[in-house]
Amino acid sequence: MKEKRDVRSIGVLTSGGDSPGMNAAVRAVARACAHYGIRCIGIKRGYNGLIKNDVTELTPDSVNGIIRRGGTMLYTARCEEFRPEEGQQKAVDTCRNLGIDGLIAIGGDGTFRGALELSHKGIATIGIPGTIDNDIACTQYSIGFDTACTTAIDAADKLTDTMQSHERCSLIEVMGRHAGHLALQVAVAAGAFAVCVPERKTDVEKLCDRINASRKNGRTHFIIIVAEGAGHTTELASEIKTKTGVDTRVTILGHVQRGGTPTGHDRVVATRMGAHAVDLIRMGHTGRIVCWNDSKVCDCGIDEGLAMKKDLDEGLYELIEIVT
Ligand code: F6P
Repeated sequence: MKEKRDVRSIGVLTSGGDSPGMNAAVRAVARACAHYGIRCIGIKRGYNGLIKNDVTELTPDSVNGIIRRGGTMLYTARCEEFRPEEGQQKAVDTCRNLGIDGLIAIGGDGTFRGALELSHKGIATIGIPGTIDNDIACTQYSIGFDTACTTAIDAADKLTDTMQSHERCSLIEVMGRHAGHLALQVAVAAGAFAVCVPERKTDVEKLCDRINASRKNGRTHFIIIVAEGAGHTTELASEIKTKTGVDTRVTILGHVQRGGTPTGHDRVVATRMGAHAVDLIRMGHTGRIVCWNDSKVCDCGIDEGLAMKKDLDEGLYELIEIVT
């Protein structure tokens, strides 16, 4: 561990797609700052707030009650203005003017790329993973994943009831433009017949053959979880209908997965991550991502973390065909 440095002000922002539990992380940052006598500045709408100097003081009282709320009290955005050098310089100037000694950025890989730029420009910056995609390779867990899975599993359970009544096939599209971790987890927990993910090409012929064979063995309804990045869900549905004769319906869960009350797991991980991020800044670190590995909070370099690739859990993927 490095030497403790004199930190008087820490800024915190949420950026990119929101995820349930971001508020719990903001609260932990604000409360840990207050505990150590550090001023906490909430930056609104991600990096936009740094460019426009749109900030709010976070006191222990101002974050009261947010641990149980979905969304983010700081608002979030994907900030185009921050991409060019000029925008980044504006953000650095705001940090300097506000006397920010360290910045904590909560979000996904885009957020971390921004954090790395600021770190290179001399602003001590720490990232906290918050994305329902759970696609940050250096951490086994990202805030919001458990809540999003729980929401999607609940929807899949409800859809299973009606599919069973009507002897239909249901394609349930979950989020995940580039990653199938959410789809895979939901598929296993919902007892789905199949899963389609961006990382693997869907073999439609094989899928329809499996449906036809299962029908001969008495199966009457089918739940298939499709990640949004796996292909066109509506086209897949009509192909299945044509090739199997089973009435096939599509439900797109969309942003419903990003909202809602965070689960206990998300609240606890977010709280530990928020406090760890404050500790890292107090100890003089910069350019780190807070991680959750083997049920412990730890950290890794942002450059190192961004260079890693997260593979799909192959064992879990193969298990679906075995247990259906
Ligand atoms: O990055 C998280 C994510 O939920 C992706 O899975 C999804 O494709 C994307 O956000 C949607 O973003 P937006 O809300 O900006 O449309």
